Amino acid sequence: MNFDKLIYELNDIDEILIDEIKNRLHDYNFCIIRGLLDPKLIKIAIDSKLSDYVKNNTDSSTTGENPSEIRNIFMKMSIGNARHGGVIRPRFKRVIYNPMNRTNTFGLDFVFERLAQVRNVLSNKDKNFAIYKIEEGLWTAARIHQFPVGGGFMTLHKDTVLPNILKDKKFSGSFFQPLALLTQKFEDFEKGGGIALINKDIVEYENFATRGDIVIYDSNSIHGVQDIDTHLKFEQRSIKGRISGLATLYEMRNDS
Ligand SMILES: [Fe+2]
Repeated sequence: MNFDKLIYELNDIDEILIDEIKNRLHDYNFCIIRGLLDPKLIKIAIDSKLSDYVKNNTDSSTTGENPSEIRNIFMKMSIGNARHGGVIRPRFKRVIYNPMNRTNTFGLDFVFERLAQVRNVLSNKDKNFAIYKIEEGLWTAARIHQFPVGGGFMTLHKDTVLPNILKDKKFSGSFFQPLALLTQKFEDFEKGGGIALINKDIVEYENFATRGDIVIYDSNSIHGVQDIDTHLKFEQRSIKGRISGLATLYEMRNDS
């Protein structure tokens, strides 16, 4: 298929034509917004602050964190079937939570702010809804997903957990999951990467996407990450691999 029609180019978030995006999601369950994030700034942040952080800190376990921990900088490996989320969703990745508290720890807050704004605009919410404060009992879980070289992956799935929470909370908007591509295939990794079911085909969309693209999924999108560079050795204290940024609405839990 011609992948150009999956890509929506834009220079300014205020120019988003929501119906354009929704039409593409309706037709393909997938869409890319290009032009809102500077790939050079992303690369600088990853190669310096994020790389140093991963090198000099340790990973927490896959399960067992306290809800309050992920509202601070918190890094863990996420490995296994992940039944704890209520569904079976095999994966091998690292997650680094990056709270929106204006400290800009990794130099990537501009990415998370923009992602959250795209999420909000598509959901017909105020552009800055729940980014820097809790609103409707929701907060922005800004976080980095690293799928390391040596086999990082995420099985194909639909995002079901959060849409159900939003439904339960009678959230007045609809669910969209924008994610930012923070690495470049064939530069930062060679094989694998983001995949989505588009017109009944599993498409490795990072073959035509670029660093700084914002990928949009909705609650019907089937997506995952194909094994990253299994021909290379996994090195736990390395940032090498495929990296994405997310700014998902999470429910505020008080059991902390
Ligand atoms: Fe997902």
